Amino acid sequence: MNHIDSYENEYERYETLFDPKRSDRRARRARKPQKTRMPKKPTEQVVSEIADAAGLEGGFNPTYTPARYEEGWLLNSLEALYDQQLITDVVALVKGGKEANVYRCAPGPAINAPWVAAKVYRPRMFRQLRNDKRYRQGRVILTADGRPAKETDHRLMRAIGKKTAFGVEVAHKSWLMYEYTTLQRLHEAGAAVPQPYGVSGNAILMDYIGDEQLAAPLLSEVRLERGEAWPLFEELIRNVELMLGMGLIHGDLSAYNVLYWEGAVTLIDFPQVTDARTNSDARAIFERDVQRLCEYFARYGVRRNASGLANSLWDRFWRVAEADVLADLSRLEDDSGDE
Ligand SMILES: Nc1ncnc2c1ncn2[C@@H]1O[C@H](COP(=O)(O)OP(=O)(O)O)[C@@H](O)[C@H]1O
Ligand SMILES: [Mg+2]
Repeated sequence: MNHIDSYENEYERYETLFDPKRSDRRARRARKPQKTRMPKKPTEQVVSEIADAAGLEGGFNPTYTPARYEEGWLLNSLEALYDQQLITDVVALVKGGKEANVYRCAPGPAINAPWVAAKVYRPRMFRQLRNDKRYRQGRVILTADGRPAKETDHRLMRAIGKKTAFGVEVAHKSWLMYEYTTLQRLHEAGAAVPQPYGVSGNAILMDYIGDEQLAAPLLSEVRLERGEAWPLFEELIRNVELMLGMGLIHGDLSAYNVLYWEGAVTLIDFPQVTDARTNSDARAIFERDVQRLCEYFARYGVRRNASGLANSLWDRFWRVAEADVLADLSRLEDDSGDE
């Protein structure tokens, strides 16, 4: 069994136990036969092994006590962030999401914030991903440093196509780097997204929205005050337009991927971000994002025609994009005329 296979088997077991969609009975039934296959290491051993590997005095010994089936995965995923001194502790589980768990962590000395959020991907996510062709289309592969891999790297492309262990690993990394580099670009451009601080093999570290008692609820979970709805809707559309101006579409935008805290909204969850220029489904994906926002806000009396709004934003984006291309062309002509 190669390295990746054993990794996936181990986490498959974790998935079976963790997946909230499975009934308790099924989860319990699945637990038994696998017990003998996967002898469990005591926490102390896992922690000390990681500490040994990292060569750190004291080692990574988080305050948060992970569930039995969560601990090896969690410690492995966050170890690199600890080694880089980006986090010093894992304090609490914020939420077990569809594809990832998010943990509240204490930041390292270089980060000026009381808390940070670590989004740690579930292992199964990496085989199924929401990377159905629709989103991946038009995307390049990003390497561990966030740069596009060369199309001419045939070894890499073949490995990904054939889903070899190496190919799967490259695809994981690419997926994670998309989310991370998108967060970076958007944050720099002034979008309402958490500031990203770091990325490791399986986790992204970013601003934590909320406080010690309470992580920010989702927009879908709160009841807005009268008078709040319009400005929040406009702010979300500002973000949608800002992203589109950069050629990016969220791709899974709804009140379930917007945090609400102290009257402000923050967009989260970017792995399926779509390229507006190169993905041939981009227009439909974009309209669905706008549609879902309009649907949510309609209950507060914000009545906007979603497809009309999507149309006008889309047209404006392409007008600007075309104008840019024409300007580039005329600059090229001028330059060649100078020679
Ligand atoms: N930066 C953050 N601060 C506070 N809570 C967060 C943050 N990012 C995510 N969460 C919480 O974790 C959940 C899962 O994160 P998300 O990025 O949406 O992943 P998933 O793919 O699992 O939906 C969110 O619904 C939200 O409740
Ligand atoms: Mg989400």
